[in-house]
Amino acid sequence: MHGRRLFFAGSFALLTLAASGPLQAADGAKLYEANCAVCHQPDGNGSEGLAPPLVDVLAKRAQSAVGREYLAQVLVSGMVGNITSRGVKYNGNMPAATLSDEELAAVMGHVLTTFNKVSQPMPAELFNAARSKASTPSAVRQQRERVLAEVGE
Ligand code: HEC
Repeated sequence: MHGRRLFFAGSFALLTLAASGPLQAADGAKLYEANCAVCHQPDGNGSEGLAPPLVDVLAKRAQSAVGREYLAQVLVSGMVGNITSRGVKYNGNMPAATLSDEELAAVMGHVLTTFNKVSQPMPAELFNAARSKASTPSAVRQQRERVLAEVGE
């Protein structure tokens, strides 16, 4: 009798564990691998002619309000047209990400802490706010220029 009760308690604990899975914080590193690495490369250094680097270029923007707004908008709306990053020209097309606000917060958290050594978080609310003023890919490219002129690269 006693053993049976223990068995039930054990299975309940396992069920609870399994059920809590989807509620756990989204894994930024895994999301990066699955959604960004194909263009920005697994090490984040980008690829000439395809996509710009995300390593050691975003700290200033991550640490200013207008910069964070820009970064959120890139993910939510995408970006197209000529840009220069670390002295290299790109004329690419970044598609709008099809991730939830929480997933975007997790993936950008990974990009900022791992690739740019800034612990400034970009909370889900920031992406939600960006969605409410969704932009066009070419307007986001102009936003990038304004923000870089203001905060530097
Ligand atoms: C299909 C290829 C592709 C994918 C997938 C992609 N990007 Fe991009 N990304 C680009 C390109 C291309 C640009 C530059 C656009 C331009 O040249 O106007 C860019 C620009 C950016 C920028 C702005 C960089 C800067 O210097 O201002 C950030 C931040 C960024 N991407 C993050 C991400 C993240 C995070 C993901 C995954 C959720 C992702 N990208 C997925 C191609 C991609």
